[in-house]
Amino acid sequence: MRQVEGQSRSARVARAPWALMSAFVIVAACSGGEKAPATTTAAAPDTLLPAPAESLLTQDSASRSIQRGLALLTATRDSLPAFAGNELRCTSCHLNKGRKPFGNPWVGVSNRYPAQWARTGTTVSLEDRINDCFRRSLNGKPLPAGSADLRDIVAYMTWLSKDMPKGPHGGLAVDSIPLISPDTVRGKTQFALYCSRCHGPEGQGGKSLGVLNPGPPLWGKGSFTIGSEMSRQRIVAAFVHHHMPFDAPGFVADSIANDVAGFLLSRPRPDIPGKELDWPNGDAPPDMAYKTKAQVKAAGPARQQP
Ligand code: HEC
Ligand code: HEC
Repeated sequence: MRQVEGQSRSARVARAPWALMSAFVIVAACSGGEKAPATTTAAAPDTLLPAPAESLLTQDSASRSIQRGLALLTATRDSLPAFAGNELRCTSCHLNKGRKPFGNPWVGVSNRYPAQWARTGTTVSLEDRINDCFRRSLNGKPLPAGSADLRDIVAYMTWLSKDMPKGPHGGLAVDSIPLISPDTVRGKTQFALYCSRCHGPEGQGGKSLGVLNPGPPLWGKGSFTIGSEMSRQRIVAAFVHHHMPFDAPGFVADSIANDVAGFLLSRPRPDIPGKELDWPNGDAPPDMAYKTKAQVKAAGPARQQP
């Protein structure tokens, strides 16, 4: 049984928080010598992961299924209004059709499942992970097992992965920057400076702003739920560090990305029932937005007052 990249991470964080990152960390030169050197993680490369070219797809039924799967992932709300509950599409977070390094890539994903997932404490299939994002990232409903929609989405991901080796996609996980305790007041200021022009001053999304690349909502009812993987501080901070602002990626340093992430996650967003049952074995990562039952149990009963 292989382990999912995303689930072995919590164990890694506990063992060696910075060692893993060393390959990606650059230390900026300190000119005067009197100030502490600023450390930040190198931005994601500008290239895309190796995957087959879309131009090689034909008109046969296998190709049409792949193309339809891709269309569902990029125009999710328009194509599947009964299953998408917010204003996001799958590729709002799985950037460049799932081909972007550190952008929650799908290249290789079908080679990693089925796998044990610490968040559920069970073995999950690729279909389970797809439906988990329908529920928690799109605040919607799972696609029925055996449906053409689910089959086509799997067909796209399998085709995208066909040149990749089996197993984890080491080093490409999105939570690739240090977890730093956030200053949410500074995060709010930075959001106003660098994010609100596309995502709206109230994080409501930029559809009505008349900008070139309007961003989807970052909080409120149109956004992802508290149970989405994106609601983990380190994941959203790394995503922002590597990919935002959309037109100037790599501009936001590790600490600022953590501050903005802390601010975004302090804002209201849709809840997800049953989230307290996540990570049933008590191995929840340290950057979650909510407490699980297993964590509360491990902390023990509140101390009795004398
Ligand atoms: C709000 C952001 C967001 C949206 C929208 C979103 N996802 Fe995800 N998704 C994530 C994050 C974060 C992960 C965890 C990535 C990791 O563990 O490296 C993830 C994981 C996954 C995985 C498992 C990837 C792996 O490498 O194991 C699949 C498959 C997936 N999503 C499919 C979808 C589909 C299909 C949709 C649309 C219905 C979708 N996602 C929408 C954020 C999102
Ligand atoms: C130039 C416009 C622009 C700016 C500025 C910008 N974004 Fe985005 N952002 C986007 C777009 C566009 C997407 C979705 C990409 C897609 O659908 O292909 C996105 C996606 C996101 C997502 C994942 C989807 C979601 O809605 O949750 C997050 C999180 C995010 N941006 C945060 C930020 C933060 C934080 C900043 C400021 C540091 C920022 N963005 C600045 C345009 C922008």
